[in-house]
Amino acid sequence: MSGWVLYCVVFAAAAKSCYAFCQFSPDLWCSSPEISHKCQVSSQCEGWNCLSHVDAKPVDLVIYYESDCEECSDLFENQLDFAYKEVAEIINLQLVPYGTTTEEFDGDTWKFTCKNGLNQCTRNIIQACTIHFAMNISVQFPFIKCIMTSTGSPELVTQTCASKFKGIDWAKIIQCSKERQGIELEHQLALLTEALQPPTDVYPVVTLNGDRVDDIQGKTGAELVKLICQNYQGPLPYGCRNETSNPSHSCHSA
Ligand SMILES: *[C@@H]1O[C@H](CO)[C@@H](O)[C@H](O)[C@H]1NC(C)=O
Ligand SMILES: *[C@@H]1O[C@H](CO)[C@@H](O)[C@H](O)[C@H]1NC(C)=O
Repeated sequence: MSGWVLYCVVFAAAAKSCYAFCQFSPDLWCSSPEISHKCQVSSQCEGWNCLSHVDAKPVDLVIYYESDCEECSDLFENQLDFAYKEVAEIINLQLVPYGTTTEEFDGDTWKFTCKNGLNQCTRNIIQACTIHFAMNISVQFPFIKCIMTSTGSPELVTQTCASKFKGIDWAKIIQCSKERQGIELEHQLALLTEALQPPTDVYPVVTLNGDRVDDIQGKTGAELVKLICQNYQGPLPYGCRNETSNPSHSCHSA
C-alpha cells in the first residue's frame, strides 16, 4: 500500500517536471538533442534523430512468378501477405507474372507458350494488365493475391476478384488482355524475367534491392519482413518492431 502511494508521488513529481520543461508535442521529442534531453527521452531517441531526416527510398521487392503455380500462390498467401500487412509502406513492389512462359516473334506480334496451356498464358496477361492499370500497391497486391488464389476461368476470376475491391475496372483489364496492349505488357515482363541472373526455370523468384532471396519458399513471412527491414535505410515503421537492435539503423556517423 505505502509502495503504491510512494510510486504515485514519484510519478506525479516526474510528470510535473516533464510538464515544466518539456513543452513540446511528442512528434518533436526526437527532433533535437536539446528537446529529447528536456523531455527525458534521450536514450529512446538515440539512433532516431538522424534517420528521421533521411528521405529513404522504399525497398525494391520484385516477384517473378506465374499463374497456375502452387508455390507461387503459396508465396502470395503466406510470406507476401504477411509482409504486405506489416511493412507495405516501405516496399516498392514489382510483380512480374511470366515465369516459365516462352515467347516467339511471329512477324508482327509476340506469341506466348505456357506449360499448362492457353489459360495459363491468359491469366498471366490479365495480371500484366491489372498491374499496369492498378499501380497503387494497396489495390494491386490484394487484387493479384485474389487472382492467384482463386480457381475458375480467367475472366470469371478477374470479375469476381474485381468485385471485392473498389476502383478496379475488370472490363478494361479483360479488354487489355485480348489486345496488343496486353501482349506488349507481357513482352516487357518476358524481358525482365530473361534478364534474371543466374537464369532459372524454378519459380517463384524474389529479389530485394536487386539481390536474390535464397530459398524464399523455406522462409516465413517474419523472415521476409526482417530482410525488408534490414534493407531499409529510413526510420523503421511499426512492422519492423522485431528489428530495433539492427546496428545499421543506429546513428553514429555524420
Ligand atoms: C493508394 O490507394 C489508397 C486507397 O485508395 C490511398 O489511400 C493511398 O493514398 C494510395 N497510395 C498512393 C501511393 O497513391
Ligand atoms: C516477430 O518475431 C516473432 C518471433 O519470431 C514472430 O512470431 C512475429 O511474427 C514477428 N513479427 C513481425 C512483425 O515480424
